[in-house]
Amino acid sequence: MTTYHVRAAGEEDVEAVLALRRHAEEWLKAAGIEQWTKSAYGARVIEGWIGAGSTFVVSTDDGEIIGSLSLDKGDPDFWTPEELKVPALYLYKFIIRSDHRGSGLGDVLLDWSGYRTELVGDLWLRLDCWRDNAGLHKYYLDRGFQHLTTRTHPVRMSGALFERPAELRLATQATTANLIDHTLSGETFPPLGVAR
Ligand SMILES: CC(C)(COP(=O)(O)OP(=O)(O)OC[C@H]1O[C@@H](n2cnc3c(N)ncnc32)[C@H](O)[C@@H]1OP(=O)(O)O)[C@@H](O)C(=O)NCCC(=O)NCCS
Repeated sequence: MTTYHVRAAGEEDVEAVLALRRHAEEWLKAAGIEQWTKSAYGARVIEGWIGAGSTFVVSTDDGEIIGSLSLDKGDPDFWTPEELKVPALYLYKFIIRSDHRGSGLGDVLLDWSGYRTELVGDLWLRLDCWRDNAGLHKYYLDRGFQHLTTRTHPVRMSGALFERPAELRLATQATTANLIDHTLSGETFPPLGVAR
């Protein structure tokens, strides 16, 4: 079992989160996956979210940042005004460094994102992602997300829209990732008494 820590990102984490993004871009390119090709644009967005307090970083016991994600409002480039009225939180820039993938940490972080969504009173965890990336769509479909629709945009390549109920918890005991949540009381996620 590996222990990870999640906390809100601050200005001091900008470089580490941007490094994760560059790492993901290189991994995607090496895997021949067309996604996240506009590096400078991605970096600006990430810096903005950290400034707004909507980015979280995941670190190992020794404090090394190996993952991050942002939870924020829906993007009006893809979601209609009607859809944006639905009580939902939106997941962005979900990244785990490749040497920490495949352990179940991603599943735990998706459950945790649902938990954060519920904490602010919302019912759905949503995301928009690269519209032509079937592998990524499969990742989310396998984790309880439903594909709602795919929208095109004149210059942006995202637009595949997904959602899952915020209350869904899919990480099992089989995962080797143990997450300590420092955003609230610093206890293990899921909190005691809630089954995993
Ligand atoms: C998405 C992510 C956080 C999930 O981490 P995880 O839960 O540990 O899951 P894994 O990395 O083991 O990925 C599971 C499967 O999804 C695939 N996958 C992950 N990201 C993918 C992507 N961007 N495009 C295509 N396939 C992807 C993996 O190759 C793997 O496929 P396999 O089972 O055939 O080997 C991590 O894969 C990542 O950082 N990916 C790159 C950044 C990214 O695309 N983030 C999502 C943005 S919406």
